[in-house]
Amino acid sequence: MSAIHQRVLVLDLGGQYSQLVARRVRECSVFCEIKPHTITAKEVAELAPIGIILTGGPAGTRTNPPTLDPAILELGIPVLGICYGGQLIARLCGGEVDEAHSSEFDAAPVQMEGASPLFAGLPTQSICWIGQQDYIRRLPEGFLAIATDHNHPAAAFAQPERRLYGLQFRPEVERTEQGAAIIRNFLKGICGATGDWTMADYARSSIEEIRATVGDGRVLLALSGGVDSTVVAALLTRAIGSQLTCIFVDHGFMRKNEGDEVEAVFKGQDLHFVRVNAEERFLARMKGVSDPEQKRKIIGEEFIRVFEEEAKKIGAVDFLAQGTIYPDIVESGFGDAAVVKSHHNVGGLPDKVDFKALIEPLRLLFKDEVRALGAHLGLPDYIVWRQPFPGPGLAIRVIGEPTKEKLDILRDADAIFREEIAKGGLDRSINQYFAVLTNIQTVGVTGDSRTYDYTLALRGVTTTDFMTAEWARIPYDVIERASRRIVDEVAHINRVVYDVTSKPPATIEWE
Ligand code: XMP
Repeated sequence: MSAIHQRVLVLDLGGQYSQLVARRVRECSVFCEIKPHTITAKEVAELAPIGIILTGGPAGTRTNPPTLDPAILELGIPVLGICYGGQLIARLCGGEVDEAHSSEFDAAPVQMEGASPLFAGLPTQSICWIGQQDYIRRLPEGFLAIATDHNHPAAAFAQPERRLYGLQFRPEVERTEQGAAIIRNFLKGICGATGDWTMADYARSSIEEIRATVGDGRVLLALSGGVDSTVVAALLTRAIGSQLTCIFVDHGFMRKNEGDEVEAVFKGQDLHFVRVNAEERFLARMKGVSDPEQKRKIIGEEFIRVFEEEAKKIGAVDFLAQGTIYPDIVESGFGDAAVVKSHHNVGGLPDKVDFKALIEPLRLLFKDEVRALGAHLGLPDYIVWRQPFPGPGLAIRVIGEPTKEKLDILRDADAIFREEIAKGGLDRSINQYFAVLTNIQTVGVTGDSRTYDYTLALRGVTTTDFMTAEWARIPYDVIERASRRIVDEVAHINRVVYDVTSKPPATIEWE
């Protein structure tokens, strides 16, 4: 059974925007999937979308420009082409595109034709984030311009009978004032979207789908305590209950109380929950190890080993479940690459676990949708709003060898910082924030005595994709409270610094 009744396809022609476009579609309560531009018309027809959006940026379009099976435009499905996507529609339908302009984008006033359903109900002029690169020199026969700006006689164009639309500007970015309304007009006015896709629908149909796939089989899940795997566990518990076994490997590099919090969520529920307290094993393997990559490698290997040992006790299972989410698939490309990246979520796929197939019930969702699903399934806020946490955990936030003593110091300091961020009401706006225990000791003074203790670094970043990030402008009074409490309450820290570097050139983590 299909989990979705009405779907829109976003066909990716390169550039950075396809995820954002997909997200805008979902914000209109319409289900959406991203597919590569190499998809054939036959494959599109089988998916029976109510609409198609072609999205591509200027980068990479000069050499080897991506194209599309032209028969897709003949399927009678409404198509909205954005930037390069629009130019491609024009080209494939017999128009001409001029490449004389630069590849810059600019915020410019655009005049829109109110009679077009794409611009229904909008002001006749508004600011758009518009590409100054290739532009349409001659529209194909039967097409007409529906928007203009000083630079583009066809800032938008249409073939209304065939329901083909092209935009020279990007409607998905906030700089385009009426962008969200234009996307909504395309979906509701042109594609006939009912806009009734909700998380409750998703949960219901996903549970049905899991039941149909699993039958009376057994499912094994590696639970990390992060949002994704926890939501998968909650969904599977609802769907198949005691046929599910979750193995939660506590490697001892978790934040304060984290292991207990994760366990508390699943205690008393209808599933087999196995918590493995493997701190000693992991610490033993960290002896004398200070190189970050070495730490990652050892922890990843040890994790698999512990997981396999536990899994062996259970015996053969039918399915291995994973918390792969949509950006994991999209970022790594399509086809086989998607599978390779998704395995990284649990730090590599265990060789010695015997299973028939993978189950990835979040593979179509974005992070905020996973959170919404988690909330719908009744998970507590501290799980639903958990910030990203690296697989090797605090081991890569203690610079140098991660010893038990240093990890405990960091755990206490990090908990205070998180508490103060939450008290300051910043816990949902700063995308990742944490403490790092440096291996620098400096001189300080407490009362009358001189101290020689560790420097703790606080880090906070805002980001949407974690590929680039800005250091978060945390108000001084929040930093002040955190700093004061940390040096007062945590032994062996006498100095606190705040990291004011963005990514690039720094990374988010210190190691
Ligand atoms: P960086 O430090 O590369 O981090 O800017 C980007 C994002 O990835 C997380 N991160 C990791 N996640 N295993 C993980 O599962 C790792 O080894 C790892 N290293 C970094 C980091 O927390 C941030 O969200």
